[in-house]
Amino acid sequence: MTIAQPATRPANPRFSSGPCAKPPAFDLANLADAPLGRSHRSAEGKARLKAAIDRTADILGVPEGYKVGIVPASDTGAFEMAMWNLLGERPAEMLAWESFGAGWVTDVVKQLKIEAEVKTAEYGEIVDLASVDFDKDVCFTWNGTTSGVRVPNGDAIPADRKGLTLCDATSAAFAQDLPFEKLDVTTFSWQKVLGGEAAHGMIILSPRAVERLESYTPAWPLPKIFRLTKGGKLIEGVFKGETINTPSMLAVEDYLLALDWAESVGGLKGLIGRADANTAAVTAFVEAHDWIDFLATDPATRSNTSVCLKFTDARITDGATFAKAVAKRLADEGVALDIGAYRDAPAGLRIWCGSTVETSDVEALLPWIDWAFQAEIAAQTEAA
Ligand SMILES: Cc1ncc(COP(=O)(O)O)c(C=O)c1O
Repeated sequence: MTIAQPATRPANPRFSSGPCAKPPAFDLANLADAPLGRSHRSAEGKARLKAAIDRTADILGVPEGYKVGIVPASDTGAFEMAMWNLLGERPAEMLAWESFGAGWVTDVVKQLKIEAEVKTAEYGEIVDLASVDFDKDVCFTWNGTTSGVRVPNGDAIPADRKGLTLCDATSAAFAQDLPFEKLDVTTFSWQKVLGGEAAHGMIILSPRAVERLESYTPAWPLPKIFRLTKGGKLIEGVFKGETINTPSMLAVEDYLLALDWAESVGGLKGLIGRADANTAAVTAFVEAHDWIDFLATDPATRSNTSVCLKFTDARITDGATFAKAVAKRLADEGVALDIGAYRDAPAGLRIWCGSTVETSDVEALLPWIDWAFQAEIAAQTEAA
């Protein structure tokens, strides 16, 4: 049985949740001005790095007095650096609702071995934030990339908390409002919402986080790559573009171009609007079809970037095999690349709806999901 294919294909089939699609205007030729073969400590190199920091702070609306730095090893580097420098001064609460948050739990419980209460939620849900003791240090992921949930707002975090909040915001930054006054550490990587290159991470510190860094020395050793203080004082250079080690100036140039593009679509508001429009297109599709649903159960905590879907049709005999087969059909047709659910997550599809994705491409993809679903149901029935 042949199922008719939709007439239109997405102009860009790249819906991966990381590295994410480059900005629509991206052209490798535009990187020609990168100061390649020059020292990152030259005046020109430092100016580029400082511009990346200043423009990030400006677009994200980071408050005065916060520090923004470029660090090695992408978001993982930034978040582990934060945990290794700051935790251990007081007990911690570790909140996890998907694979990456679970990874930070392992770091704290098995590697740092500090006193920590672990609170987890099933894929598709988040922990009840009202139950969290913010007088402890609290680590959490703002947007669960592998489960398609997000923290709706910072209301549950008290302004007068005694602990620090460490927030992995890698799949949220630039597509969701982040309440920086409630976040003492915010980390993200360039490869997500702005479609930059991997390798570098960003860390944003509140004045309270800086105070902790300058008043507390962890009991464990810190490798040079993690060190943010010297002689009990913040290494200010890291927050002015004097990176800890050598960065890729090509990646820096690419990030600066992504920031240009971000400004051209209206800055943070425009970026959020684009992700919201993409997610709205998926929502309309899900509501119109009774065989597919969001993994995120509550619309208030549903992500607008990493949109995770599950198949709910009772005819499906093996969920994981079915979802993989659908994703493969879409990839083979060249209409959607890399949209299978994350390896540790429940079976399904994950469509990146972040700001670099064009709504017209999401709209063009959706009828193909219908096609691939029908084709796979037919193939399963024929095989039975
Ligand atoms: C929530 C979250 N945290 C951490 C990471 C790791 O990021 P990176 O590989 O850029 O270090 C990812 C990557 O997808 C993520 O989604």
